[in-house]
Amino acid sequence: MHSLLARTLTRVGFAKPTRLVKPVAVFQISDRPLVHQEGLPKLPVPPLKQTCERYLAALDPLVSEEELSHTRELIAEFLRSGGVGERLQKGLERRARKTENWLSEWWMQSYLDSRMPVAVYTSPGVILPRMHFHDRQGQMRFAAKLIAGVLDFKAMIDNETLPVEYLGGKPLCMDQYYQVLSSCRIPGPKKDMVVNHAIGKTPPTHITVVHNFQFFVLDVYNSDGSPLTVDQIYAQLEKIWNSSLQTNKEPIGILTSNHRNTWGKAYNNLIKDKTNKESVRAIEKSIFTVCLDAPMPRVSDELYHSRVAAQMLHGGGSRWNSGNRWFDKTLQFIVGEDGSCGLTYEHAPAEGPPVVFLVDYVVEYMKRTEMVRAPMIPLPMPQKLRFNITPEVKKDIEKAKQNMNIMVHDLDVRVTSFTHYGKKFPKSQKMSPDSFIQMALQLAYYRMYQVCCPTYESASLRMFKLGRTEAVRSTSIESLKFVQAMDDQSVQNADKVALLGRAIKSHRAYLDMAIHGQAIDRHLLGLKMQGIEDLTSMPDIFMDTSYAVAMHFNLYTSQVGSKTDCFMCLGPMVPDGYGVCYNPMDDHINFSVTAFNSCEETNATKLSRFLEEALLDMRTLLEQTPRSSQ
Ligand code: COA
Repeated sequence: MHSLLARTLTRVGFAKPTRLVKPVAVFQISDRPLVHQEGLPKLPVPPLKQTCERYLAALDPLVSEEELSHTRELIAEFLRSGGVGERLQKGLERRARKTENWLSEWWMQSYLDSRMPVAVYTSPGVILPRMHFHDRQGQMRFAAKLIAGVLDFKAMIDNETLPVEYLGGKPLCMDQYYQVLSSCRIPGPKKDMVVNHAIGKTPPTHITVVHNFQFFVLDVYNSDGSPLTVDQIYAQLEKIWNSSLQTNKEPIGILTSNHRNTWGKAYNNLIKDKTNKESVRAIEKSIFTVCLDAPMPRVSDELYHSRVAAQMLHGGGSRWNSGNRWFDKTLQFIVGEDGSCGLTYEHAPAEGPPVVFLVDYVVEYMKRTEMVRAPMIPLPMPQKLRFNITPEVKKDIEKAKQNMNIMVHDLDVRVTSFTHYGKKFPKSQKMSPDSFIQMALQLAYYRMYQVCCPTYESASLRMFKLGRTEAVRSTSIESLKFVQAMDDQSVQNADKVALLGRAIKSHRAYLDMAIHGQAIDRHLLGLKMQGIEDLTSMPDIFMDTSYAVAMHFNLYTSQVGSKTDCFMCLGPMVPDGYGVCYNPMDDHINFSVTAFNSCEETNATKLSRFLEEALLDMRTLLEQTPRSSQ
């Protein structure tokens, strides 16, 4: 989801991600076999002229007339017949013919080349509804059901019976579901890689559980291949809990939260020791990780979700649960003793929607599953993973603790539920709820800063084979006109409504363009990467001030809708920006806003308040303006 476009992609060797090689045969709910992946269309390479025109239109509300006219000249030169643009476009089209998806390797590379810590910077968090347990039994029971639910979901992946998802009536690529279990990111001193153990000769049959910073291997299948029952898992979790009561253990997992170069070096150092290497491999190979967290500091009900969001994003710091993680693990479910629960996932292999689909499934599973006390054959004690902490490893841990604590202090998180209305209201106004919320964000930002800013919204490219995401640029000339008019006393309400309607239509049109592979950001990235691969000097359009402005997304946003009343959260993309996630339910909208405390100009709570006001004012405007005058 993090486009990382703003960061320069260096030409380094690419650690090819492991991905499913066998064709994925999936079945619809009707069980009608559908070898659907093979039938998916390829991601198109949009026409060059179209992208250039759309790029200029996107710049219009963001840069001065002078900058825009300079960029127009650069674009004209780029588009010149027989010029650099044409050559790069041909290269891209060639690549598209030769590959399943011309973008997917470069996209993965952008994640794996990024040297920023994965915690906060790229890994999102998901907060599940508050659970009403406050003790170890409740924690174990919940964790046991959750593990059983994920295993039930995994059976659909293993049997290839996962129902195909649709967007706008079109089937979606299901590949990401095959990347989230049994996979892990591995750090390197210059670049990382992702390994997927699900497709090896011996797929894993264990998960890892971490409690009080101590990792355990928990085999989750019986010898006959059947998954452990909730009851069995509960019994195993109790054993783990009881043998990890000491709280003075080195938080080895905190190493994974470090800057990637630092962690890459520390990793090589750590696995020099044979025991450490085996322990690290066991974590990496596991199906997923469950973090049994210690209780976090109590906060008011108003701040509860914000506190849990921070717990999901970074664990709260070295004193709390940041060492109770392996941040490289693709899926980590987090269950706190105090009833806080959710997950965090490493973003390189997949986007939010498949993860949230899995969450929805597991939550439903948990509702219908009760623990049944039945006679049990005693299971062996889960294996505790040993680590030899050499002085050098200890030094690395201390460094990681310091960095994590700085990151924790720097992250400003505000999670709120807007309860005045949900997506039913914009629908009743015949407006797209997503576009409506994006316009509210535009209004909130404009009221706070009196300017609009480059805004990024993730949109799915999964209509195409191996598709990931495209950016919807929510700021447009139409959105600017609307936000400027909204607080202008001289503008009639009917005109404001008309401007809002146009801004929403423009956003929805961009969104449709994006999901059909005709937006600009991935194409521009492709042209840039093609230039790097061709070893040509970087075309001027990418060295232009307008380009730098356009790629500096102060608002980095994403809707990840779910059936469960959950909140998703992610960090900002730029130091002076915001990360905004929302989950529109029928009658309320869950929001999370993040920013960095080190930036004086940003404030997550303030933006949340402005957002709430914007949503209320937009409703008032629509309700007070007769439909006939719209
Ligand atoms: N009038 C009435 N109803 C409307 C409407 C209109 N003009 N426009 C849309 N709606 C309805 C839709 O039919 C839909 O109905 P449903 O709730 O019954 O399904 C609902 O409103 C929501 O539509 P909308 O708000 O327009 O959004 P969407 O469902 O099309 O989703 C995205 C938009 C961008 C979230 C989606 O296309 C997408 O790409 N999702 C993936 C995002 C992603 O990958 N993020 C990465 C995170 S890591």
